[in-house]
Amino acid sequence: VSYFPHKNDEMYVDDIAISDIAKQVKTPFYCYSSAAIEASFQDYQQAFSAQDTLICYAVKANSNQAVLATLAKLGSGADVVSMGEIRRAIAAGIPPNKIVYSGVAKTQDEIHYALSLGILQFNVESEPELELISKVASSLNTTAAIAFRINPDVCAQTHEKISTGKAENKFGIPISKAQLAYKKAAALPGIKVQGVDVHIGSQLTSLAPFAEAYQRIAELVTALRADGHDISVIDVGGGLGITYRDEVIPSKQAYADIVNAQLGQLNCKIIIEPGRSLLGNAGILVASVVFVKEGEERQFLLLDAGMNDLIRPSMYDAYHQIFAVNKAKKSLKTYDVVGPVCETGDTFAKARQVHESNAGDLIAIMSCGAYGAVMSSNYNTRMLAPEVMVKGSKFAIVKKRPSYEEIINQDIIPSWL
Ligand code: LLP
Repeated sequence: VSYFPHKNDEMYVDDIAISDIAKQVKTPFYCYSSAAIEASFQDYQQAFSAQDTLICYAVKANSNQAVLATLAKLGSGADVVSMGEIRRAIAAGIPPNKIVYSGVAKTQDEIHYALSLGILQFNVESEPELELISKVASSLNTTAAIAFRINPDVCAQTHEKISTGKAENKFGIPISKAQLAYKKAAALPGIKVQGVDVHIGSQLTSLAPFAEAYQRIAELVTALRADGHDISVIDVGGGLGITYRDEVIPSKQAYADIVNAQLGQLNCKIIIEPGRSLLGNAGILVASVVFVKEGEERQFLLLDAGMNDLIRPSMYDAYHQIFAVNKAKKSLKTYDVVGPVCETGDTFAKARQVHESNAGDLIAIMSCGAYGAVMSSNYNTRMLAPEVMVKGSKFAIVKKRPSYEEIINQDIIPSWL
């Protein structure tokens, strides 16, 4: 189901026409459906209801406070990767005891801050990091609950830039060295070994790589227990994909069944870290056509949104569906859909069929709720797009567009120049 359906040729989100929002919020803007976020979270809850599971939403996918608050109210925890994300999660009402902290290069300050809050778990990605956590925890007279992120060396069958569980990737510690690492951890002050963590990649469309990874994790947990470690938590990571185009994605229930089949008999608390599968199809990017340009060979739809607003097409050759917000009385035409930024890579789609559009018409770029706004930048000194949240017949700007002064005044011209 799309949460952004066309009704009588006009695109809606819940009870509101996108064009009505655009009357009050200048394009480009992101638009999220809180109903969509809630539904996918509840899907996960339902799917995992047979297992003791904590959903730790991967904040990196979309860290807007309104998004985090929506999830916090439903009981979500957070998977964070930086001081900034910890602060965002806390500010939105996610309690520290539901926060897991991932990331390959956590700094001393970040570790100190997380320890002072008392988070649920550090997902440790290397031995130097383990030593630093031990040092900081000891100096604070506290104990850090840790899991090692295990690199299981499986192929996630996804885009190489978002594949993380191969031996050649920078993430985690090799499964072959895991038992030694746990032995070392158990002997260090300020460290409590509590779990095992794995995350193999993002936008997975098949369950087979998960099954393979989790089977290896199950074997490891058994071996670690035999070594005398008290392993009570398994963090299975995120990575379940979404439909951008026509991908057939396994259901959350099928995914939960795989987790249960591979890990259920170990009686551990399960943590999952979904990002994209919670937010991806809960948001769109709304833009306006600035010009329609007749090229020699192609017709260009030139939008007021660019690669600085949504970088996925240029970065990963990602496919996003593109619709005219109003399709009435129009036929399909073939366009290259591009942005205003001075780079050829600023292209959302090539030779794409979109309902005929003219300057001023609204265009929706779909599946932008995850890794959209969070990856945007001010490149070309373009303002970050505002974000709008819709619930029923209400909508609110949940991030406002900054003023040019705010952006320009961040720079300082030294007096001695
Ligand atoms: N846990 C860890 C440790 C992760 O590194 C990630 C994503 C997740 C969970 C959430 O994965 P998800 O459920 O969203 O697949 N910018 C890229 C995606 C990068 C994903 C990075 N890690 C994109 O736009 O496709």
